[in-house]
Amino acid sequence: MKTMKKSILITGGAGFIGSHVVKLFVEKYPEYSIVNLDCLTYAGNLENLKEIEGASNYHFEKVNILEETGLVEVFEKHAITDVIHLAAESHVDRSITDPLAFVKTNIIGTVNLLNTAKTFWKNYEDHLFFHISTDEVYGSLDDGGFFLETTAYDPQSPYSASKASSDHFVRAYANTYKLRTLITNCSNNYGPNQFPEKLIPLCIHNIKNNKPLPVYGKGENVRDWLYVVDHARAIDVVFHQGVAGETYNIGGFNEWKNIDIVRLLCKKMDEKLGREPGTSEKLITFVKDRAGHDLRYAIDASKIQKELGWEPSLQFEEGISKTIDWYLNNEEWLKNVTSGAYQQYYTEHYHSR
Ligand code: NAD
Ligand code: TYD
Repeated sequence: MKTMKKSILITGGAGFIGSHVVKLFVEKYPEYSIVNLDCLTYAGNLENLKEIEGASNYHFEKVNILEETGLVEVFEKHAITDVIHLAAESHVDRSITDPLAFVKTNIIGTVNLLNTAKTFWKNYEDHLFFHISTDEVYGSLDDGGFFLETTAYDPQSPYSASKASSDHFVRAYANTYKLRTLITNCSNNYGPNQFPEKLIPLCIHNIKNNKPLPVYGKGENVRDWLYVVDHARAIDVVFHQGVAGETYNIGGFNEWKNIDIVRLLCKKMDEKLGREPGTSEKLITFVKDRAGHDLRYAIDASKIQKELGWEPSLQFEEGISKTIDWYLNNEEWLKNVTSGAYQQYYTEHYHSR
């Protein structure tokens, strides 16, 4: 690969994981130009990027990946050399009520982006298309076994079916057009900036406000959890050292039953809020199970560990404690994202320039 100045398009950079990836790349690589492309859905919030929005190597483009002309304009304007693609509809429950929205953004949007890269880039040797995916494409495990990179895809929800499809398109473009691609499949992330519809921020928000904690079914479903900054570190490592055409699983070696996570959150928040031990646990409410609820996800992340030397840096209890502190110290952020008021932030900070 020739050494040329990198101009990296990061899609979905205003969302949860994307904002951590954008921050890491802007701060660690001042020699790169970082272009955050995001259409700012309910999950995208530019307040997540306040610390770096003035950096000279950072640019923001409000574009929907479904708009081909918008994508072409951004590729031309910024002479994009590489793509790290995170933009997606990301919540399983929403995919159950509105699967088509997931087909549009996750499948058609990804193919639009692949097409733009395929057309705009002349010599594929000089460029990389890095697609960020999920372990949910592998389906559901019972009590034994782990997902490996070689595990056959078996998606069970509309969300995971749409992500699996986008992964297949990325591989198809590598095989058919010889685009240089990378795919990572990561387990459940937690940490600052996550929209409070997902289990951990939802529970933190509800415990704080003495609202019920809805646990689906019996709370026995198992997820593997990774601190979001560790995921961003893994993306950095794979982008720079990964072998084109390869897939890397990313995980926390950290499996938890949902009910045990909710209890841990209750315990920690009782301590932090100065409540009597056991107070918040009374908020736990078992509710109707999610339709088609995957029982267990568990990642074997030994390939990235052995081949690229990445491993999680933060212990779960420490990560959870940091996450709770962040949400307790950022009540304004929570108020804004849940009321839609952050849309105002874009209007004031970007449109008025
Ligand atoms: P998120 O929902 O917090 O953020 C998604 C971002 O994409 C938002 O900023 C949103 O505005 C933007 N976006 C959505 N549709 C768009 C469109 N049509 N055009 C342009 N921008 C659009 O999601 P997240 O949790 O940060 O996930 C990011 C990526 O990582 C996704 O591809 C997801 O599948 C994957 N992933 C997530 C997890 C997880 O635990 N959250 C785990 C593994 C993989
Ligand atoms: P979630 O954070 O939505 O991530 P995913 O579905 O992608 O794993 O959910 C994590 C787990 O928590 C999942 O098993 C569903 C469960 N869950 C609840 O029990 N209650 C809730 O209110 C939510 C949002 C999730």
